[in-house]
Amino acid sequence: MAGGASTAGPERRKTTRRTGQERRDDSAWQAVPLEHAAAPAVTEGDLLGAAAAAREFAHAHYSGFRVGAALETLDGTIVTGCNIENATYGLTMCAERVALFKALSEGHTAFTRIAVVADQEAAVPPCGSCRQLLWEYGGDLQVILGNLESLTGRYQLIALLPLPFDRRLLVK
Ligand code: THU
Repeated sequence: MAGGASTAGPERRKTTRRTGQERRDDSAWQAVPLEHAAAPAVTEGDLLGAAAAAREFAHAHYSGFRVGAALETLDGTIVTGCNIENATYGLTMCAERVALFKALSEGHTAFTRIAVVADQEAAVPPCGSCRQLLWEYGGDLQVILGNLESLTGRYQLIALLPLPFDRRLLVK
């Protein structure tokens, strides 16, 4: 899944969506070959692969620490991100937030999982800022952590951000 910006959902729609005329035309109802009957679900491996591919685009000139993220939407689309650093250091944006902001800006509003990949033996979890933003827009996402070889951890976001502050607390 090169570049990672791909999808089970849209592919599924492409293979099953038909025009109104086709839907009205009985002859259009044909058996769908089994291998096309249902698009394969996005696997954990797909997400880790997409995150690893996105990591290749990281702009990590200052830290040298390249990170990739792959956010899965409810309809099976995978939106990727990489970390982007800059000369002020402070304006650095993590891979997870790049993926989240890309997805939100493309109209996605419901998310299921996020994979994060770094070249590190230990699991590299999202930073506090990313946890907060992922919670606000993604809820209790599954967070899948990996390195270039394998899975290093799997958590629900609530376990990484217990007692979260969110908009429900703004209401008196
Ligand atoms: N970074 C991420 O992109 N995601 C994480 O989960 C941890 C940290 C980035 C930010 C910065 O560019 C570099 O890694 C070192 O902190």
